[in-house]
Amino acid sequence: MASLLHIDASLFPGEASASRTVTAAFADAWRDAHPDGTIVRRDLAAEPLPHMNVTTVSAAFSDPATHNEAQAAAHAARLALIEEAENADAILIGAPMYNFGLASSLKAWIDHVILAGRTLGEGTQSLAGKPVVIVASRGGSYEPGTPREGMEFVKNYLAGALSAHLGITPEFITIELTLAPTVPAMADLIPLAEASRAAALADADAKARELAAKLSGEPVAV
Ligand SMILES: Cc1cc2nc3c(=O)[nH]c(=O)nc-3n(C[C@H](O)[C@H](O)[C@H](O)COP(=O)(O)O)c2cc1C
Repeated sequence: MASLLHIDASLFPGEASASRTVTAAFADAWRDAHPDGTIVRRDLAAEPLPHMNVTTVSAAFSDPATHNEAQAAAHAARLALIEEAENADAILIGAPMYNFGLASSLKAWIDHVILAGRTLGEGTQSLAGKPVVIVASRGGSYEPGTPREGMEFVKNYLAGALSAHLGITPEFITIELTLAPTVPAMADLIPLAEASRAAALADADAKARELAAKLSGEPVAV
């Protein structure tokens, strides 16, 4: 029985969010392919995490026996997030692009989960090798060859940080040009936006079934 940690960060609920729509399609296919599996939800927009602060960081670099009440609480909350990720067989993350980068709520999660001596550091990368699928949604396009290719700080950041610090090589599903239907200047891009959405939904379905089968040892259900 495999478990999936399903994390969303979009400010918008349900189908108003492209990333949530695609992560939901992934979760539906996962459930369908692996009915005995479990899904743990973490909604970073509905329940935002505190940003890193001096209490969190000083707690991480000091002996727990010396923690004051605030440090003990901050460190315990951080360890709970890490344990949630460690206990999952796979992690699914919705990553909307805001101002060319990550949603700050998702960055906060990453800052909490990267902890020296536990998830970071030689011989202590407790999340190393964990399957992670990231749904990257964006209003424009930043794919190779597009004018704004160099402004892509979501997939590039996540691939770099997760690999360098956590030993994770994430797989990406990209849904782009999501603003085309509502921004008049992007009207010509609507067919490309629709194609991107269809491809992302199909990719989510296929990746979920493949991962569920791999983790549960069952044949792929199509
Ligand atoms: C505050 C804000 C900033 C945004 N910044 C960008 C941006 O820099 N580049 C871009 O392509 N789209 C940008 N967008 C559009 C979102 O990336 C787009 O709506 C995407 O679908 C968000 O994912 P979601 O639908 O899951 O919320 C921005 C949207 C918001 C609300």
